[in-house]
Amino acid sequence: MSALLTGTPLTGRVAVVSGASSGIGAATATRLAELGAKVAVLARRKDNLDALAESINRTGGTAIAVPVDVTDREAVQAAARQVADQLGTADLVFNNAGVQLISPIADLRQDDWQRQIDLNVTGVMNVIGAFLPQLTAAAEAGKSADLITTSSIAATRILEKFSVYSGTKAYISHLTRLLRVELGRKNIRVATIEPGMVDTELPDHVTDPDASKLMADLIDQIDVLQSADIAETVAFMASVPRHVNLTEITILPTAQAI
Ligand SMILES: NC(=O)c1ccc[n+]([C@@H]2O[C@H](COP(=O)([O-])OP(=O)(O)OC[C@H]3O[C@@H](n4cnc5c(N)ncnc54)[C@H](OP(=O)(O)O)[C@@H]3O)[C@@H](O)[C@H]2O)c1
Repeated sequence: MSALLTGTPLTGRVAVVSGASSGIGAATATRLAELGAKVAVLARRKDNLDALAESINRTGGTAIAVPVDVTDREAVQAAARQVADQLGTADLVFNNAGVQLISPIADLRQDDWQRQIDLNVTGVMNVIGAFLPQLTAAAEAGKSADLITTSSIAATRILEKFSVYSGTKAYISHLTRLLRVELGRKNIRVATIEPGMVDTELPDHVTDPDASKLMADLIDQIDVLQSADIAETVAFMASVPRHVNLTEITILPTAQAI
């Protein structure tokens, strides 16, 4: 998607993007900065974060690299303090880090199950726990405040062997609906984006040959989504007027059947 938003509608916003060292997170951090937000980029690969922050700063934006493993609750709390100190109160949190590991349940790959639960559930909750006070303060100060999490179409589709990944994404989608009840009243917008196939590093971690083939075939055969498509959509969700909450956005390649 070429850039659809114009101007700098996010001027004055302080954004945090987790999973920003590649794929959807990196593209979204870049786009939020282009649209005027100051951006903190979080993930584990420090070199990628440094390069991203440097590229944003070189092109007139403001970014800081905050290397952190989001499964470590204390480390995420420290990251939140660093963001507040260096950029100001965060008012846009894109809670995006995630991992997809596909296998038949009978293979009992419990380490893979745990990795997905640790990152896609616990990591997501650690980010919410660390940044909710800042989102609350921003909303109380009359600013737009956004908590946007990356779910997946796997949250609702029945995809064989995707059980644990799909379970973690279903958790995120339903969590979004529940959090809206409590946080919407406080003028914090809560949203989730549920993408179909996006061309990123995500499938590189998949070891199951059938699942790898399914994703590789999709990338070969159809015009799949690019990270920039998700970035533009997230930026739009954060740019609408404060009283408008786009809560659940499903975004698919036009030619993807499931
Ligand atoms: N690609 C798709 O088709 C698709 C479809 C639907 C949903 N999604 C979701 O989109 C999100 C982004 O994925 P992507 O497609 O952009 O894939 P990706 O390029 O693999 O991005 C995953 C990001 O998560 C970060 N991450 C992994 N473990 C982490 C940890 N412990 N602490 C902090 N950061 C961690 C990775 O950085 P480090 O390794 O440097 O930590 C990386 O930046 C995920 O939640 C994924 O489930 C993707």
